[in-house]
Amino acid sequence: MIAPSLLAANFLELGKEVEMVNRSEADWFHLDVMDGRFVPNISYGLPVIAQIKKVARKPCDVHLMIEEPEKYAAEFKKAGADILTVHAEACIHLHRNIQQIKSLGMKAGVALNPHTPVVVLENVIRDVDVVLVMSVNPGFGGQTFIEQTYQKIRQVRQLIKDNKATALIEVDGGISTENAGQLVQAGANVLVAGSSIFASADPEKTIATLKRGAQ
Ligand code: DX5
Ligand code: ZN
Repeated sequence: MIAPSLLAANFLELGKEVEMVNRSEADWFHLDVMDGRFVPNISYGLPVIAQIKKVARKPCDVHLMIEEPEKYAAEFKKAGADILTVHAEACIHLHRNIQQIKSLGMKAGVALNPHTPVVVLENVIRDVDVVLVMSVNPGFGGQTFIEQTYQKIRQVRQLIKDNKATALIEVDGGISTENAGQLVQAGANVLVAGSSIFASADPEKTIATLKRGAQ
C-alpha cells in the first residue's frame, strides 16, 4: 500500500492535492503532526486534519510526533483520524496508550525511531494494528533513507510471525521508486512517501509507479 505524506504538499493548494490523492492509486493519507518538542520541527495539527477529512476519500493515517500523545488522542479521533500512530519513545505507558486509541475506535500504530530496538514491541505486538518503522530521524521531509532499515523490517516481520500477530509494517522516510521494491521484499506492507511524490513532475503517476514497484 502507498500512503502519500501531505507534509510535502503545496499547502496553498491543499484541496487540489487531496483530490489528486483521492484520484490516485494511493491507499491512505499520511498526516504528520509535529510539536517542536518530540521532534525539532512544527508542522500542522487538528484544524488542518479536520478540513482534510471532509474531502478525503481514503483512510487518514495520523503520525503523531508529539510528547504526551495520550492527551490528544480523543481530539484526533474527532478530527477524523482512522489510524493513530504514537512514538514508542514518547510513551511512558505504551500499552495503555494503545488500548486508549483502540477504545476510541481507531486503529493503533506504534512508531520506532531509527535507534529504537524492535524488542520494545515484544509485549505489545499482538495489540498493535500498525508498526511504523522510521527510515529517517523524524521531523523533516526530504531526508536520506537509512539503509539499516531493511534489517529492522525483517526483525519486525520475525516478531510478528513469532507472536502470530497481524500488525502491518509501515515504513516512513526517504522512500522513492528506487527503494520501494526492496522494502516490500524485506516485509513492508505500507510505504509512506512525501517529497518523492509531491516534488515529482506528475505526482499521480509517481504514486502509480510506487504502487507497481511495491508489488
Ligand atoms: C518525517 C515524516 C515523514 C515525511 C516523509 O518525519 O514522518 O512522513 O513526510 O517525507 P519524505 O518522503 O520526503 O522522506
Ligand atoms: Zn510520517
